[in-house]
Amino acid sequence: MRFSRVLNLVMMVGLMSCLLTICLWSTCTVRTSAIKEAQVEMVKRDEPSFVHTEYHKRGTNSIGTNNGDEEGGEEEEEEEKEEEEATEEAEDRKTKVIGKSLKFSPQSDLNDIDCNINGEKTVKCKKVKDEVYLPWSFVKPYFEVFGEVDEDDTFNFHHANSIVHPPQPTYGAGSMFMAFDHYTVETRDRVKCVTASEGVPITTQWDSKGYHYPIQVAQYGLSHHAKHLINGEPEALVLEDAQSSDLSRWIMPDRKSKVNVATDPETEMQVMEFVTSDSLQTKGIVLPVTERNLKCFKVDIKFSTNGSISILGELSNGEKIKIHFIFSRDDISLDLKGGNIYYGMGERRNEWIHLARQLIFDVMKGFLQKIKMERVKDPLWFKRILEVRVHGHGWLDNLTLTNHVHLDQFFDSANWLVRHQDDRGGWPIMVTRRLVTGVLELAPGWYSAMGQGQAMSVLARAFTLTKDRTYLDAAVKALKLFEVDSAQGGVRAKFMGQLDWYEEYPTIPSSFVLNGFIFSLLGLYDLKLVADGEGKETAERIYNSGMTSLRTNIGMYDTGQGTLYDLRHISAGLAPNRARWDYHTTHINQILQLMVIDDSEIFKTVAHRWIGYLKGHRSRHN
Ligand SMILES: *[C@@H]1O[C@H](CO)[C@@H](O)[C@H](O)[C@H]1NC(C)=O
Ligand SMILES: *[C@@H]1O[C@H](CO)[C@@H](O)[C@H](O)[C@H]1NC(C)=O
Repeated sequence: MRFSRVLNLVMMVGLMSCLLTICLWSTCTVRTSAIKEAQVEMVKRDEPSFVHTEYHKRGTNSIGTNNGDEEGGEEEEEEEKEEEEATEEAEDRKTKVIGKSLKFSPQSDLNDIDCNINGEKTVKCKKVKDEVYLPWSFVKPYFEVFGEVDEDDTFNFHHANSIVHPPQPTYGAGSMFMAFDHYTVETRDRVKCVTASEGVPITTQWDSKGYHYPIQVAQYGLSHHAKHLINGEPEALVLEDAQSSDLSRWIMPDRKSKVNVATDPETEMQVMEFVTSDSLQTKGIVLPVTERNLKCFKVDIKFSTNGSISILGELSNGEKIKIHFIFSRDDISLDLKGGNIYYGMGERRNEWIHLARQLIFDVMKGFLQKIKMERVKDPLWFKRILEVRVHGHGWLDNLTLTNHVHLDQFFDSANWLVRHQDDRGGWPIMVTRRLVTGVLELAPGWYSAMGQGQAMSVLARAFTLTKDRTYLDAAVKALKLFEVDSAQGGVRAKFMGQLDWYEEYPTIPSSFVLNGFIFSLLGLYDLKLVADGEGKETAERIYNSGMTSLRTNIGMYDTGQGTLYDLRHISAGLAPNRARWDYHTTHINQILQLMVIDDSEIFKTVAHRWIGYLKGHRSRHN
């Protein structure tokens, strides 16, 4: 694989040209003998945490594709090791500083040398004069750092593998949420598909059967809201709106099939009625498409039989694919041989269904039902729409091709939240969540402050756009659980019995996850901007109280060279849970957003310091 080739290259470069900064890593090899056991805990993180963050994906997973926050990551339960006392007042370590680069002459002695690593193992190194070189393959995992050789044969070293995405300079309830235009929720591996029944993602993260995760649904909405703001109104080509009685572009498969303009009794809209067999074995009524660039479609459609609407498309390898939207409770299925992907719209006969589909991802998720990602990406990319086909007896309106459907996707999320809110104003999560097996666990039916807060952010934006109070009322209802303790099934914890903390995972003992808490605060902030009366007062009270806690406690998450994901080491006596760079970056992105709405000094200093950690800066030691 390319990866090992790069490693070799790095090795070579490291040896052959001493101009590299990795030389610095070797300086620690000159040590006084007195240091018995260096207390550096060897971090044995094999694969999981870095596998998807390899050098070539740098930046793709910061706020982007795969981290999400939410989904907080598959936390591995780390073993707790007995931690020995640090050798505190040990002697000063002598550190040799290399200020200038060494000139390399090919004849100079380049000797193999054994490097003894903390008396625990031996690594083959190289020695040139006074300089010692450790192999990158050792350095990289040992120090959890990243690097690659670029085309100019420069070795690019990075301490971290994620990128900060600063927010917009101003913020309001209708604004872009953080820099969520960088999120593409639906491409995450654990997202099975965006359903055709409700238009929101369904996840398999903690239950392979698939379920809706409110945080994910909300993030899907917020990301599309952000993308809509960035992209502006879409280009659109209306293929059929039944405003003309000339429907001759539609091709009938047989004499019995027909289309005509009709008036929908329900909406009194002029729509197109179609009648043909509902069997997908027949060709259906076909509308050929000549437009080549618009890869999304929208339609309002209603059926009185088992009808369907299908898109015949072309893949980048020239093959054809059919994406069918059918009456089924099965969200998605693939018939690879026949080139058919089926999306279930649920059982919604005799009612208007609004579909807005991003076909690229519909096709990608279709193939992923049976094929591995590596094979899907390139050769099977969705290229263009060739035909729209309908089956059964039904009515259709607003059939449109477009370059994006972000606003529809945003409203699919908002409407899902309105439909699925329960009596307590919450969106219960129906899977078991094990933060730490046997210690920090949640049984199905738990609520998340992050879910509640992110939902508020979606609903506040939907209200801002529509002025429809249904959205606002749902957001206000979502406040209730913030004033119910975790022990009573709510989301509120108290740090040291005093400070309100809204729990992403309301475990007992509390977990005090930082990013989930801040997401909940942003939701409360959004709501207090748009709400009125009692709703506004309540949102303000809960928000202010949470902000006080955050300002007071934020330092507890600072390790001096990174951040902690939660406070399990304090609340549950477990080993500290360091935030991987993705999450550290999420923390920074969040603080940067908070700085736009709150000018507390603490956020400025924290943001500055935390950004420094990404470049390897550390706080002073004594
Ligand atoms: C519609 O499809 C379902 C399941 O595929 C089938 O049971 C039912 O008989 C069909 N109804 C009609 C009217 O064809
Ligand atoms: C078609 O779109 C128009 C404009 O958005 C809308 O008013 C109308 O209700 C839609 N038609 C149907 C049948 O939903």
